[in-house]
Amino acid sequence: MIMSKHLLLLISLLCLWFSTFAREGMWVPVLLHQNISEMNEMGFQLSADDVYSINQASLNDAIVLFGHGCTGELISPDGLLVTNHHCGFGQIQSHSSVEHDYLSDGFWAMSREQELLNPGLSVTFLVEMREVTDAVLEGCDTIGDEALKQDKIRENIAIITNEAVAGTHYEALVKPFYEGNQYYLFINERFTDVRLVGAPPSAIGKFGGDTDNWMWPRHTGDFSLFRIYAGSDNKPADYSPDNVPYRSKKFFPINIAGINEGDFTMVFGYPGTTHQYLYSEAVKQILEQRNPNRIAIRDEKLKIMGNAMEADRATRIQYAAKYASTSNAWKKWQGESKGLVRLNAVAVKIDEEKEFAEWVNQSLERKGKYGNVLGTFEKQYADLLPYQKAKDYFDEIVMRGTDSYKVYSRLAYLLRDNEKLDTVAEMEFLSLHFKDFDTNVDQNIFVSLFAKYYNETAARFVPNALLALINNKNLEKELAKCHEKSILNNNGELSRLIKNADLEKLNKNLSGDVLFNLFGSMVKVYYDSIFPRYQEINRQIDANQKRYMAALLEKEKGKMLFPNANLTMRVTYGKVEGYRPADGVNYKYYTTLDGIIEKDNPEIYDYSVPERLKKLYRDRDFGHYANSNGNIPVCFTASNHTTGGNSGSPVINAKGHLIGINFDRCWEGTMSDIMFDPDKCRNISIDTRYMLFLIDKFAGATYLLNEMEIVE
Ligand code: ARG
Ligand code: GLU
Repeated sequence: MIMSKHLLLLISLLCLWFSTFAREGMWVPVLLHQNISEMNEMGFQLSADDVYSINQASLNDAIVLFGHGCTGELISPDGLLVTNHHCGFGQIQSHSSVEHDYLSDGFWAMSREQELLNPGLSVTFLVEMREVTDAVLEGCDTIGDEALKQDKIRENIAIITNEAVAGTHYEALVKPFYEGNQYYLFINERFTDVRLVGAPPSAIGKFGGDTDNWMWPRHTGDFSLFRIYAGSDNKPADYSPDNVPYRSKKFFPINIAGINEGDFTMVFGYPGTTHQYLYSEAVKQILEQRNPNRIAIRDEKLKIMGNAMEADRATRIQYAAKYASTSNAWKKWQGESKGLVRLNAVAVKIDEEKEFAEWVNQSLERKGKYGNVLGTFEKQYADLLPYQKAKDYFDEIVMRGTDSYKVYSRLAYLLRDNEKLDTVAEMEFLSLHFKDFDTNVDQNIFVSLFAKYYNETAARFVPNALLALINNKNLEKELAKCHEKSILNNNGELSRLIKNADLEKLNKNLSGDVLFNLFGSMVKVYYDSIFPRYQEINRQIDANQKRYMAALLEKEKGKMLFPNANLTMRVTYGKVEGYRPADGVNYKYYTTLDGIIEKDNPEIYDYSVPERLKKLYRDRDFGHYANSNGNIPVCFTASNHTTGGNSGSPVINAKGHLIGINFDRCWEGTMSDIMFDPDKCRNISIDTRYMLFLIDKFAGATYLLNEMEIVE
């Protein structure tokens, strides 16, 4: 009796440990044999080679890096690709105007001829990855100086990548893992003719907008469809009318048989960045300095854009993408801070560091290698603090603050290099820029943020040009004046000079332009007084972090530690499950069309449900996409460890079929980039049944369904 009680306890403790363990981690596909038995125990029916292999078609052949920061996956033999609506948003918007408002109305090519070109967009397949640590670090042991060591590493990497793709059309790159304790080579194939095939209206694809963003329960139809085109040899080719749909090596069957709580799920894609092994003081600085500063700066900017968008429809279209991208990280930082506080993250890290120090002190050898790691961090982060603040202000206010700055940097570059004026390209840049530009909005942002910079950064980081503006005058007024008068915001004059290739006149105008010079002096202060020191301290931190990581790998030998995300292909797995966001609240793992109708409010832009969707709901015209309760499932949550870049990633069931498209994380779990909490961290996906229902019943794009493999 007593025996079995103990046994039970033991078993349940083991299960607890096991399930916690199972849910955290972003694993490297070539090393998946380390995880596969656990995945199989959780229900996964495929082998490690089915997931990633260079010898046979495997799931990785159906996955792309979409653009530079999202994931996409193939869903037909003819190169049809699905990603998120918010990943294709820039493309959808660039084809939109008040006349053709694809943002509001959606876009569906009804034949391949109608698919739309997207200059600048590319998708990248992984052909092969392999470890190259020894080759990268060759000759580095004897170099003491960190900067010189990095030079040597860069040199080695150049040799490795050149050799790897010599004589092929592939591209190669090498990335550090475990903070530079390992390196992997990636051989990629990049396609540049990628056409827009379909996107639901924003009222579906962005339903709930920035209000629901990062939140559960969620009802967003966040998907869009693209098609990869290739030359007749199926290799990448620049756009040509002769290009043909890419013939997929592998694509995902789409499963609409339904999902249940506890089902195995896996997400396979391109997570961007995580900071899993930070020193406690770094976490503290994020909580106390970085997040509050960046949130406050964006508060200002969002308020200004939001008011203007509310007041005018054309402005709403112009600023839709800018608003969404500004608000996204702003909201995430807020959730992240809350989560770190709730987890007591700084104290947890400090405890871990105490234990680490004890472990180090257990042997002379360890003391020699790692004895000063923690103390070094302490000093480095203290040094970094003022530079980190200045850099965050510069990045948020100067670099990313205004649109005028984009024109400044383009022109500054042009004048430095004035032999090569490409009038056509520059005119295209200007026309794209001014299409989505409202000078009042930009001016208000400029005035508000630059005043903030002046008031809140240390005097040594404020350039004379900004001081000169103030010189006993009203700063805001002077800032407004310089924005108003600047040629940077004068489309007519600027376009005329560029069209006539009159660089001399342009140069003359710019040299007397107060805004142009102010931007220039901000950049100069940054490169003279902020960036070099910031970079130097970070180089030292990185070197120390590498030692810390090496020590952790040694200390935790046997337990698997996953390498931080670095925008390379990763596998993460977990289960379909809901969670408890707060005391007394229990979240179910899925939402349905009922919830969309409940949230419907024609008065509020983010919650205005298209009439056509309401009619389908009233008529219960659900095709074969309903769940067993006769309702359309919309989104679901699961315990996969994802991050930015996993947007658009396939959510895969035990059989390797597509059951969802990942697009977000739950608010309560957004600290998972720094510290994961198995109880609260959930990824959010659109259910493939909702996606197919929209393509079929809402859009009537049934010809697309014919090329998919649908499993019921
Ligand atoms: N939070 C998601 C991600 O990080 C979705 C962002 C786009 N949606 C939005 N409403 N801004 O990318
Ligand atoms: N929406 C995110 C992206 O664009 C994914 C959500 C997350 O950060 O986990 O990648």
